[in-house]
Amino acid sequence: MTHAHLTAWFVALILFFIALGLHKSGKEKGFKVVQMILRLFYILIIVTGVMLLTSISNISLLYIVKAVIGLWVVSMFELILVRMAKQKSTSIFWIQLVVTFVVALYLGFMLPLGFDFI
Ligand code: HEM
Repeated sequence: MTHAHLTAWFVALILFFIALGLHKSGKEKGFKVVQMILRLFYILIIVTGVMLLTSISNISLLYIVKAVIGLWVVSMFELILVRMAKQKSTSIFWIQLVVTFVVALYLGFMLPLGFDFI
């Protein structure tokens, strides 16, 4: 499950940057398609995250914090792309994305479930 979770957010990150690139080069149709695929990956990230969460027997507050921060990252991906498509400012969401992404990585790798978990 850890592998599925890692793969899901890693692919989402790549798709996010592809979507940014397509928008910058004015390819709106391609942008919309990638945005749709990306939404599928949001679901995968959340489903695998929740599965990790429910598989922990002695859950601590840090896991809940990790999950909330993870959801925050996903929301920032979506908000940035939606606002960018509407030509609205995204800088405040970029700051939140960078900060929450770093925290999600730190908590994810710091928390004890390793690669061979499930
Ligand atoms: C883009 C958003 C996210 C990123 C970048 C991210 C990143 C990570 C990373 C790096 C790990 C460590 C994997 C490992 O131990 O090998 C992890 C584990 C985990 N994630 Fe996420 N995650 C995200 C979203 C979510 C969401 C939305 C949830 C819950 C709804 C969630 C719940 C968990 C849980 C419970 C773990 C297990 C913690 C552990 O390693 O002990 N994550 N995540």
